[in-house]
Amino acid sequence: MAEATLRGAGATASRLVVGTDTEAVALERELAAWKGTEAALLFGSGYAANLGVLTALLGRGDAVFSDSLNHASIIDGCRLSGAAIHRYGHCDADHLASLLESARDAHRKLIVTESVFSMDGDVAPLAEIAELVERHDAALVVDEAHAAGVFGPRGEGLVRELGLGDRVDLTIGTLGKGFGVYGAYVAGAQVWIDWLVNACRPFIFTTALPPAVVGGVRAALELVSEAGDLREFLRARAQEFRARLRALGLDTAGSTTQIVPIVVGSNELALAFAEHLERNGVLGIAIRPPTVPEGTARIRLSLTAAHTDEHLEQALAAVRAAAGAL
Ligand SMILES: Cc1ncc(COP(=O)(O)O)c(C=O)c1O
Repeated sequence: MAEATLRGAGATASRLVVGTDTEAVALERELAAWKGTEAALLFGSGYAANLGVLTALLGRGDAVFSDSLNHASIIDGCRLSGAAIHRYGHCDADHLASLLESARDAHRKLIVTESVFSMDGDVAPLAEIAELVERHDAALVVDEAHAAGVFGPRGEGLVRELGLGDRVDLTIGTLGKGFGVYGAYVAGAQVWIDWLVNACRPFIFTTALPPAVVGGVRAALELVSEAGDLREFLRARAQEFRARLRALGLDTAGSTTQIVPIVVGSNELALAFAEHLERNGVLGIAIRPPTVPEGTARIRLSLTAAHTDEHLEQALAAVRAAAGAL
């Protein structure tokens, strides 16, 4: 990583103008090998990747099917693409099936979903969605922002954990969350990646990731790949933490992952709850509309493998006190 830093703090221009630094080429090969795909492509951020992929693959006359709780970057990509947008109920494969049926005549059909949802901590019914993709001759794009590093034998994400690698066309992941660095990648077959290099505006018309960041990601990828024990530990911890919150009568929505919301309803209550937690040394962000639907404001807690038993006991005590006081 230190060596990469010496190569420069900036990449100077777009890759299509000045070429690609050898560190970035190496990282893309490593990311593809890690994901088990033919190729991978780096992006400046997860936001840019979602916007870029959806606008490069879709246009007028096409139909995009998007989970109703997908991230803003996916929503914006769908809007900007010009395709007809069909929002299906959150994780509702039956609703998705009926929308696919009704848009039978669309030129191209593409389904886009997160694998682990950022604000609910629940997971998409990926196997059912993959069936629908095949039945309707659609394409499937999965955003693994919150699954990368946590799911899959080497942290590749939920798609790999569920053995669906061959049935998903492109996976997208940010390098700013589980990897702790910055940037993003898109992984898939070479033909898809070649298309993106030639058609994806947020890839083409922007300065490449700095070599120092690329070096940081290469180091992080090694750590992420080898962190199997930490993944097990984190997931077991999250399960226990959630069970204890539920035992307090709190609503953790459909969470089955390291993202654990406490849904409280009103914005005022969420803010008061967050303040109470902060006074007790616990960072629990108050998430409000439009990030989540009206009436479902919540505290969003996110566990990491670095949280100790003491941290979690402290968090539970602070949550108990806040819930009691409010
Ligand atoms: C599901 C999802 N996709 C994409 C992004 C955007 O990633 P980045 O922060 O790298 O732009 C986020 C994060 O905020 C996210 O939660």
